[in-house]
Amino acid sequence: MPGSSFGEAFRITTAGESHGPGNVVIIDGCPPGLPLSTEDLVSDLGRRRPGQSRLVTQRKEADAPEILSGVFEGKTTGTPIAILVRNVDQRSRDYSDISDKYRPGHADKSFDDKYGFRDYRGGGRASARETVARVAAGAVAKKLLRTAFGGRVTGYVIQVGDVVATVDDPVAVTEAAVETLPDGEPNLVRCPDPLAAQKMVELIDAVRKDQDSVGGVAEICATGIPAGLGEPVFDKLKADLGKALFSLPAVLGVEYGIGFRGASLRGSENNDIFVPEGDRVVTETNRHGGILGGISTGMPIVLRAAVKPTSSLSREQRTVTRSGEVTTIQTKGRHDPCLLPRFVPMAEAMVALVLADHYVRWIGQSRTLGP
Ligand SMILES: Cc1cc2nc3c(=O)[nH]c(=O)nc-3n(C[C@H](O)[C@H](O)[C@H](O)COP(=O)(O)O)c2cc1C
Repeated sequence: MPGSSFGEAFRITTAGESHGPGNVVIIDGCPPGLPLSTEDLVSDLGRRRPGQSRLVTQRKEADAPEILSGVFEGKTTGTPIAILVRNVDQRSRDYSDISDKYRPGHADKSFDDKYGFRDYRGGGRASARETVARVAAGAVAKKLLRTAFGGRVTGYVIQVGDVVATVDDPVAVTEAAVETLPDGEPNLVRCPDPLAAQKMVELIDAVRKDQDSVGGVAEICATGIPAGLGEPVFDKLKADLGKALFSLPAVLGVEYGIGFRGASLRGSENNDIFVPEGDRVVTETNRHGGILGGISTGMPIVLRAAVKPTSSLSREQRTVTRSGEVTTIQTKGRHDPCLLPRFVPMAEAMVALVLADHYVRWIGQSRTLGP
């Protein structure tokens, strides 16, 4: 009931706050025999890490994961996997003067309304710091998908403010193109269109200088996913993926396949035509985004999430105190002027967790009885 767990068969539970001693995830239901070490976790944790570039929050965290259980002699045992990531650079004093004020766009008032008491240090449990635990679990899920059937989940930024990237084929986007620009420099915004990436960097620099922030859109593409994952009614793959992405902080909207653009098409324009390809059936186009009837079709699963402009601003904003007195607020704590670059590994993690969950459910449930 308290909502700190996600998934059914491959199930994660997270605990931890922005400025507590650390964040922990327990993964229950990971099949035994999966080769796993902290080496498998550090790449995605590094992509999520604060302080990775000038475009993100300058909080300095090593984000070194510790696997506490569920792995023996380099392989998962089938018992719960606990992963701890300690907080190092908490700097709680940055938040002491906002303990009594509601930051616009944040969960401060919501927590007071719900609990009557809150950990105001950096947003407590509402902080995106909590996602460090999900990204660690997502790396395990990604490894399971890769090992079981060669599945991959790749996210990237397609829009920052009014700068829109051109990405013709989501399947063709490589992790290398998301992380590195053609000239070998790091791709700070994780946009695979280099020209748009440059404009996005300039826009983020400009809004930061203006003590402001900007939002955008990330796209996530899962390839190599077998047909048949997902349940027909309440646990449709699209429903679980929607919940997964909406459970991330700052998400305003989620689309899959052609998304909202499909609403203005005719059926004859929107339908994807089935065709044989070798020993399987595929579709000529992929407007359905790899899901029909809530079940994967074997085509790439393509999703997009809109993310709001960061609420924390170093410029002055009007607000009220806990007792309702009008006042002003400036965020002195460190924050991201644009959430998108660090959102990418978080979104990948949540998509991988849903797919791993439905894969484990499929193994246990959907095979036909008989000789
Ligand atoms: C990668 C990432 C980093 C974030 N960092 C900040 C931040 O520095 N400052 C901030 O105001 N919000 C930040 N957030 C968003 C808040 O956590 C979130 O907007 C807030 O808890 C309110 O929740 P809601 O927007 O989902 O309603 C971040 C979100 C993400 C995805």
